[in-house]
Amino acid sequence: MAELERKHGGTPVPTEWTYAPAPESRDIVSIRDRYGLYVGGEWIDPRSGKTFATIDPSTEEPLAEIAQAGPEDVSLAVAAAREAFENGWSALAPSERAKYLFRIARILQERSREFAVLESLNGGKPIRESRDVDLPLSAAHFFYYAGWADKLEYAFPNRQPQPVGVAGQIIPWNFPLLMLAWKIAPALAAGDTVVLKPAETTPLTALLFCDVLRQAELPPGVVNIVTGDGSTGAALVDAGVDKIAFTGSTEVGKAIQRRLAGTGKKLTLELGGKAANIVFDDAALDQAVEGIVNGIYFNQGHVCCAGSRLFVQESIYEPLVAKLERRLTTLRVGDPLDKNTDVGAINSAAQLEKIQELVASGVEEGAEIYQPPCVLPEKGYWFAPTVFTNVAQSYRIAQEEIFGPVLSVLTFRTPEEAVEKANNTPYGLSAGVWTEKGSRILWMAQRLRAGVV
Ligand code: NAI
Ligand code: MG
Repeated sequence: MAELERKHGGTPVPTEWTYAPAPESRDIVSIRDRYGLYVGGEWIDPRSGKTFATIDPSTEEPLAEIAQAGPEDVSLAVAAAREAFENGWSALAPSERAKYLFRIARILQERSREFAVLESLNGGKPIRESRDVDLPLSAAHFFYYAGWADKLEYAFPNRQPQPVGVAGQIIPWNFPLLMLAWKIAPALAAGDTVVLKPAETTPLTALLFCDVLRQAELPPGVVNIVTGDGSTGAALVDAGVDKIAFTGSTEVGKAIQRRLAGTGKKLTLELGGKAANIVFDDAALDQAVEGIVNGIYFNQGHVCCAGSRLFVQESIYEPLVAKLERRLTTLRVGDPLDKNTDVGAINSAAQLEKIQELVASGVEEGAEIYQPPCVLPEKGYWFAPTVFTNVAQSYRIAQEEIFGPVLSVLTFRTPEEAVEKANNTPYGLSAGVWTEKGSRILWMAQRLRAGVV
């Protein structure tokens, strides 16, 4: 710690905090030069003959060559899943299926450091998050659904739950391994087999997961992994699957819904958000600030339920914004593999461009922008934590999902006004309320149109 400086006659604050770098070693993972598709328990070269490079978004350094699966490859994977479904998996005793899930969970725990490093390398998120959030939750999901496998009759009484068949699963890049766990674990527990397509920017942990499947001796074909971009996803939607499970943008979700209408294939969608975080004047402000920071700067804001709209009661607007801006200056932006890093790299050039475009629109429309002083690395995709004040409801930054470390602050006077403004959005994934008053929390929770409050 450097010397102390007296600021504006207030408490002395350090002029500089210098953290020694604490990089996690990347030697724990070995990345192959190229990966094929994982079909029927084997690595196969793509029939399409096409590949693409996957990179480290913090340096733009290429990490591996990835197969771009075409329709023929997707059909092969679906056929392998169909065979595994019919030749044993769906008829296996549920307690036997559970054993595989338990094994997968244990292996993920054992190899969690390796997976965490790879997740941060390929996706740009801070190692602290992949180590403390993504990996423990991924393993926990397999444990959880292992427990359900032989208890489904109790979960759905008198319904005699049956497996659906082959599930096509398409996942995004913000929580690559965790989204894989959310999709694969329940499907296997229910007796389904799977063809999963990871996002094109973050395929590596899904490909390493194939190693785990082999270690767990999961029967071949029960889980197949096909890599590629949106066209591979579209081929999976059109292939002979019984169900599609999709997490990603609202736009693509709608397109899939249109495509599947009338086909009889089942569909689950988990799409975008523009969550409201509402702070009343009686809230504990320091705690609220921590909650706000976690809500929007966690995982660079690449979170569907990110608290990207902050509503502050007018009487505390100034002190709250001052505290928030001061807290922002302490966020460390940089190397995702450094254990001190709070905000890592933006996942891709395309996502960075989208954030930049929306932020420019905010400035253009008249909002006031604040970014703490921070030196961003020259290579790679970076965006400083950003707060917009003086935001009107109609601005694009208050309406559209930015999916980056960008917060829009708006104000309200009464609880009624807070509800009206918070509900002024096409999204309804989540919301947060900060107040000391229990009855007000319940009053708000009843009125906010969001799935989770
Ligand atoms: P996206 O929805 O295009 O990608 C998600 C997955 O869908 C990827 O695996 C992709 O390859 C696949 N996909 C793309 N087009 C497809 C198609 N026509 N048929 C089937 N699968 C297809 O999302 P993208 O382009 O990466 O991000 C755009 C915006 O979407 C982000 O800026 C963010 O606002 C939002 N988003 C929201 C997520 C959430 O969890 N709510 C996750 C990812 C993105
Ligand atoms: Mg897209």
